[in-house]
Amino acid sequence: MSNLYYIQFNVPKMIGNETVYMQEALTEQRRISGGGYYTQASEAMLCKLTQTHHAVLTSSCTHALEATALLLDIQDGDEVIMPSFTFVSTVNAFVLRGAKPVFVDIRQDTQNIDESLIEQAITPKTRAIVVVHYAGIACEMDAIMEIAQRHQLAVVEDNAHGLFGCYKGHALGSIGDMATLSFHETKNIICGEGGALLTNSQHYFEQAEIIREKGTNRAQFFRGMVDKYSWVRVGSSYLMSDMMAGFLYGQLENHDKIQAHRHAIWQRYHLELADWARQYGIQQPSVPSHCEHPAHIYYLLLPNLEQRQAFIEHMQRNMVQTPFHYVPLHTSIMGKTFGYQAGDLPLTEDTSDRLVRLPLYWSLNEPSVDRIIQMAKAFRV
Ligand SMILES: Cc1ncc(COP(=O)(O)O)c(C=O)c1O
Repeated sequence: MSNLYYIQFNVPKMIGNETVYMQEALTEQRRISGGGYYTQASEAMLCKLTQTHHAVLTSSCTHALEATALLLDIQDGDEVIMPSFTFVSTVNAFVLRGAKPVFVDIRQDTQNIDESLIEQAITPKTRAIVVVHYAGIACEMDAIMEIAQRHQLAVVEDNAHGLFGCYKGHALGSIGDMATLSFHETKNIICGEGGALLTNSQHYFEQAEIIREKGTNRAQFFRGMVDKYSWVRVGSSYLMSDMMAGFLYGQLENHDKIQAHRHAIWQRYHLELADWARQYGIQQPSVPSHCEHPAHIYYLLLPNLEQRQAFIEHMQRNMVQTPFHYVPLHTSIMGKTFGYQAGDLPLTEDTSDRLVRLPLYWSLNEPSVDRIIQMAKAFRV
């Protein structure tokens, strides 16, 4: 056992010209701050890949989410509907503007916000619905968009997981009023820390460019559209450095290779663990037939918290790292300050107790996948 190498949950790795482009940003483009050649090249590529009119690179998905709250002019006392089974950035972005998060429970099959519970959470103070496509498997966007239109609410897709995912043929990130992406090292396409805001609206695009440039129209100045730039609205510093955009472009160019490898691993887990999972009452991911997933996360739902912890320990003893995922926001210290308590969202709490993730990254090799599958199947509930 001791000569086994440790299989981490995630290992960031280059695939092509990442460092070449970083160097070129410095030596040929001679610009490594934001908005330069690789920023524009990456944004153009993202528009194509996500079927959206506009992509605005940001320093993180967290910052892109903060920009959405600014774009929607979220104010003190506004309510924003979202799942509690998500990362803290989904909620912080809106709480920073004074909003109250209204958490809605999730579906048992996809771990996504339960669209049938959204309408009853709407009040006169509701301004927006934020959806998270967990593991890149789409929320029920037709129903959600219909509710939003009827109540005149904005829809933000927190698509941190879902680049390359599809819902009824529509790319995730292209359906709501605006969407965000993450290029954190754990995502399919990476640059260490990075993100993007996507939108089909010319108005939101123009405002997003201003927001990420400290509230100034500097981007318009560089394009020769205004003769000087100045403070035009509240904003922040959400620009990605062009050095990091160079890294990102090197990844984006190779998205086919990355995605093919991730899908092969995801599919192996799904097929080769199926009998074992069925035998022990372990739930595998469920992908509705109208959705295409991007092989972002491969997760399992063990029968209960004790079994989930036992599985993590079993895998750890066998040198495989299999982390759990989100601790519900509504039961967190901050969540409770909004009046929530344990028991409020039973499916969220149950999923959080039972979910575990298997290693999945583009440089994960066949022998490692063999070992992960073999070790998982050796676990008895
Ligand atoms: C659903 C979700 N939203 C937002 C984020 C924040 O992304 P970033 O680390 O790029 O800020 C994450 C991070 O993993 C996430 O899982």
